[in-house]
Amino acid sequence: MLLIVQPKKFLKTVLPKPLIYKIQNFLDKISVSRIRGFSLHLNTPDRYVLEEIIIPYFIGRREFYKILFVGCDWFTKPYNGYFKNKEYWTIEIDESRKKYGSKRHIVDSFLNLSNHFTNDYFDVIVYNGVFGWGINNREDTETSFQQCFQCLRPGGILVFGWNDIPEAKPFPVIEECQSLQQFQPYVFSPLSTVQYSVPDKSDEQKFGHVFNFYIKPLTD
Ligand SMILES: C[S@@+](CC[C@H](N)C(=O)[O-])C[C@H]1O[C@@H](n2cnc3c(N)ncnc32)[C@H](O)[C@@H]1O
Repeated sequence: MLLIVQPKKFLKTVLPKPLIYKIQNFLDKISVSRIRGFSLHLNTPDRYVLEEIIIPYFIGRREFYKILFVGCDWFTKPYNGYFKNKEYWTIEIDESRKKYGSKRHIVDSFLNLSNHFTNDYFDVIVYNGVFGWGINNREDTETSFQQCFQCLRPGGILVFGWNDIPEAKPFPVIEECQSLQQFQPYVFSPLSTVQYSVPDKSDEQKFGHVFNFYIKPLTD
């Protein structure tokens, strides 16, 4: 025990703090990752659905060209490569996460989306993992879907990913959010449903991740 603990302690005293922080950060990342190609990917069941089913569907269809992804983190960096043949945008409130975003990146709250884009601009908006992770009350949630509605073209698709667990679900968003009702549920053909609850690896439903698919109705 002494032999195992001592080198760790020793390294902590001799290495500079920023380096220790970087190593710790890297080890934390590795512990929740899987390797795909040359990059690290978050190893959760919902990521698999997002990266292997949802994103490829949009990549493969010409009618979906202008794509917005809301919120960035280290695990969204590889998405730049996925969307290399699209007009791929990212928006993130935290400036330090710009490095994970697209070259077409906006540092701002998603609640101000229409300050940056004209109406009907996007073909697809992926609003995943932000409700309950920053958009945490009814007013902001209403505004967020209003902004999506304004900036999506008629026939454009909204992918809304959220966690159906008490700690990440500020209120029953699907049932109670008014601005969400402007959209129509969209049958996402690869999953044959308008709402997909991702099965967790265990039976605990630790993540409770759900994807809802919507379309902005076509105008007559
Ligand atoms: C759990 S991460 C999810 C990242 C990404 N959306 C994904 O699913 O891979 C949540 C991110 O949303 C960002 N965020 C929270 N509130 C936001 C807002 N109002 N506008 C833009 N980004 C926001 C946070 O800073 C954080 O980086």
